Amino acid sequence: MNVSAIALLGVPGAGKGTIAAGIKEKSSFVHVSTGDLLRDAVKGRTEVGLQAEAFMKRGDLVPDNVILDIVMERIARDTGERKYMFDGFPRTLAQAEMLKTQFDARGAVLFRVFLLEVSSEVALERLSGRRICKKCGANFHVVNIPPKKDGVCDVCGGELYQRADDQESTILNRLKIFHEQSAGLFSYYEEQGVLVRVDSSRNWKTVVDEILGMIAPSA
Ligand code: AP5
Repeated sequence: MNVSAIALLGVPGAGKGTIAAGIKEKSSFVHVSTGDLLRDAVKGRTEVGLQAEAFMKRGDLVPDNVILDIVMERIARDTGERKYMFDGFPRTLAQAEMLKTQFDARGAVLFRVFLLEVSSEVALERLSGRRICKKCGANFHVVNIPPKKDGVCDVCGGELYQRADDQESTILNRLKIFHEQSAGLFSYYEEQGVLVRVDSSRNWKTVVDEILGMIAPSA
């Protein structure tokens, strides 16, 4: 199996999910969001979900070994050549090192890591206004990217809801955790020559096009 991957990293609210959806639409990358995998596990009351739920409610990180297991399990479901787009993974240096071990053993390569940069103020404003479709998962913002009809998904007509961890106190903890626990990652990927910093405070479509331009031959 021939595997390669890119990763989208950044503070909660940097726009990882939004940008990933835009890239997915215009490329053959398979979107793997650890946040989405965990939320599905919580919803399905699986063993992983039961382990992860309390961490997520507080806005803390789920233990590294649990994260590696769900990602490698997700990849193992596929056969043949695949290009993955990790969203919110790896999030700690330990996750990055474990991923490297797993990828090296399979001859797989993480060839670009995009760090989506926004200020904490922008992130807080974005997350406080985020609304998500219950049915298809499409992502909106009450002011920045509003649905055509209040509370209703443009894509499938489903009902929009606010994520449980998008309350201000939890958002602030998620931002704090990011700065404490993800910092070491960026120098690690910088040293490997794969880190690209992207200004994610711009219009999301501009950001998508810029990233696509940088991965064009493999998109
Ligand atoms: P996860 O679901 O990954 O959440 P997060 O990292 O906190 O990031 P978000 O999904 O909140 O933000 P985003 O950057 O995707 O922004 P979005 O595009 O939605 O993780 C949730 C939890 O799971 C974690 O707290 C942790 O407990 C656990 N977890 C997950 N991965 C883990 C890991 N690897 N290790 C350990 N634990 C893990 O955009 C936000 C809003 O802004 C939206 O409303 C959007 O419409 C709007 N917006 C986006 N882009 C723009 C733009 N350019 N202009 C204007 N508005 C925009």
